[in-house]
Amino acid sequence: MKIGHRGAAGYCPENTFASFNKALDLGVDYLEIDVQMTKDGELVVIHDTTVNRTTNGKGKVKDYTLKEIQNLDAGSWFDFKFAGEKIPSLSEFLDEFAGKVGILLELKKPSLYPQIVEKTAEELIKRKLITGENQMIVQSFDRDSLKRFHELLPSIPIGVLVKNSGVKMITNKDLRSFTKYVSYVNPKITMVNKRLIKRIHHHGLKTIIWTVKKKNDVMTLKELHVEGIITDFPDLC
Ligand code: G3P
Ligand code: CA
Repeated sequence: MKIGHRGAAGYCPENTFASFNKALDLGVDYLEIDVQMTKDGELVVIHDTTVNRTTNGKGKVKDYTLKEIQNLDAGSWFDFKFAGEKIPSLSEFLDEFAGKVGILLELKKPSLYPQIVEKTAEELIKRKLITGENQMIVQSFDRDSLKRFHELLPSIPIGVLVKNSGVKMITNKDLRSFTKYVSYVNPKITMVNKRLIKRIHHHGLKTIIWTVKKKNDVMTLKELHVEGIITDFPDLC
């Protein structure tokens, strides 16, 4: 699976409709998005917990209402030709893209947002996006939130994101515990080697690698038979 990271973040302002449409033009199988929540409890598609880097505003996502956050310009920081791009609500995103392409939805920092797991599940149930792998995968670094999500919607495949902070690697104990609620173990590219991919597969789990930016890495990962590649540049795959 070829997965566009925040759309096609190498070419367009991330997590905007411009970026998602570019990724579609480049033939992705899935769009990867980051979901957080506003002060008034609306789900929005943005990566950072503040709006500082990717808009003309300042402050935390959770201190904005939906209306306020959507008044920000989420395009000009990347290139002025994208002026006027907005932070999409999850609802707007799903209206436009669900059914057209697979969605890899990351719950970003869910511990900051009370009920974000339940609200996301409700949104997917409402839209009948709960029946399988071709349309939706939910991932996060936050294992407790993933377990909760899996309890609510066991038919949606779960991905656990893993990065090598400090010296921590993925142990066999981790892998055994993942088999209870996870379909995909998704390591950062810097952690990947042949043995890790073999161990993941040996436990009956699949793997999606992030974030790939070099053609050589794409070729290596394909030789390792990983199930998915998340990239800022979907034309590399
Ligand atoms: O999808 C994996 C990747 O997106 C996780 O890292 O920081 O880009 O959300 P980040
Ligand atoms: Ca992400």
